[in-house]
Amino acid sequence: MKQIDNNILSFFTNRFGFHFDEDKKNHLKYLLNNRKKKIGLINDKEYLKFICSHGGKDECQYLINAFTVGETYFFRNKYQWKALKSKIFPEIIKRKLNNNDLSLRIWSAGCSTGEESYSLAIIITEIISYYQSWKIEILATDLNESSLDYAKKGVYTENAFRDTPDNIKNKYFSKRRGKYKIQSSFKKMITFEQLNLISNTGYPKHYASFDIIFCRNVLIYFSNEIAKKTLRYMYNALNNDGYIFLGHTEGLIAKDFNLKPLSFENSIIYQKQDVKFPQFQPETFKKNFIEQEKIIKQRIPAKPQKNNHKSETPSKSDLNNTYDSALQLFNLGKIDDAQKMLNKHNENQSLYSLLLVGLIYIQKRDIHAAQVILKETQLIYDLTPETHMFGARIHEAENKISEAITGCHNAIFLDQSFFYPHFRLGEIYRKLGEQGKMKRSFNNALKNLHIDNSERFKLFCAGYSTEFLEDYIKSIFVLPQ
Ligand SMILES: C[S@@+](CC[C@H](N)C(=O)[O-])C[C@H]1O[C@@H](n2cnc3c(N)ncnc32)[C@H](O)[C@@H]1O
Repeated sequence: MKQIDNNILSFFTNRFGFHFDEDKKNHLKYLLNNRKKKIGLINDKEYLKFICSHGGKDECQYLINAFTVGETYFFRNKYQWKALKSKIFPEIIKRKLNNNDLSLRIWSAGCSTGEESYSLAIIITEIISYYQSWKIEILATDLNESSLDYAKKGVYTENAFRDTPDNIKNKYFSKRRGKYKIQSSFKKMITFEQLNLISNTGYPKHYASFDIIFCRNVLIYFSNEIAKKTLRYMYNALNNDGYIFLGHTEGLIAKDFNLKPLSFENSIIYQKQDVKFPQFQPETFKKNFIEQEKIIKQRIPAKPQKNNHKSETPSKSDLNNTYDSALQLFNLGKIDDAQKMLNKHNENQSLYSLLLVGLIYIQKRDIHAAQVILKETQLIYDLTPETHMFGARIHEAENKISEAITGCHNAIFLDQSFFYPHFRLGEIYRKLGEQGKMKRSFNNALKNLHIDNSERFKLFCAGYSTEFLEDYIKSIFVLPQ
């Protein structure tokens, strides 16, 4: 019997990489005896032959399931989730928005009955208000088929919520006969697949380009050597700057890879170091910058001659007055006068006066000049909701509608109370005939109409009053009660 047990152990170790400690060996003996009795194969050799044969596939799967019963629950290790929500996701999202890349790929490896994967989907919807306009893929894999079947159903008992705040449970699950069912929209975000992490040939091609990989409390099943090999595949499947979440006791293996341990409250999360990124080229950067400056200087006429009655450097209030007056002229449709006024003080420009110059170029259909202003604004002020909105206006003027929509969403992502992008989206969807999205956007616009910051409201709303805009929106559709 001992020999047979060992053969069976070797079979599972070789084929699936399982590592059996003494406790597990005892459990295995007990389990094997029961199984042999149940299927009537008392002879040990025959039983081993049976599970290795084609006809014994189901029995083999039964044993796999039994060996890998996965303890898990929603938001397990709450500190990792806290770091994910407050630090890691915001970092990834900011980086993606800067690259105009609205996609997110996450892999929950060893997902067991799905609690980890659904926790990910929930956090995403909590943190990205317009997650529907992102391409979000959560791939959830496990070796254990019955765990995956359970996960696909998305129905859980109270026990799965031991670390879940009540408000999350009540918001995203419906209770029926003492069980909790996840809302179906979350199921659509996740693809459950069976995958044996122990592989001699690597994983299928689509296991690549992940922004985040969760592989928690899985590597503990494997011998050190196999755990390292598994992590090597995962490392290769991770994007540069991507993150990997391991279980508490699994971090030691990470030191063999180019993974930087990042320390958060009560947790360590690993980030892949950017190894392939080309070296920073100061010369190229300088050249681009100088060329850009040249274009801006050509576009903006020279300052008028010094006048004896005014000091050379404009004061702050001079600049404010110039901006206010130029905005007034712009809103009255006197675009050339507004431009002249701004050209008087083309130094020390504030964000809003630069954007006003850019909006004037859009009105004049000089899209190239508007783009130059956009670049300059980004260089000086980084990405603000207003710069995203300005970029969206440029795209709209170029008739690049999907980019314009993305720009509006980016602006809203950075500041949900920004009225104008909601309004603009309403207008775009109206033209596209997309009633549902139009109504949603106009509804959001109305919600923020009276709370938005008045300066940017004045800049983007071309002199229209809040009363006018309210009547205008309401005239387009009847609001739901
Ligand atoms: C303890 S659960 C972890 C669940 C979840 N990741 C967590 O931390 O809450 C471990 C999971 O690893 C899976 N597993 C074990 N060996 C595996 C293998 N070779 N390939 C894929 N999954 C495996 C088991 O089936 C089990 O569902």
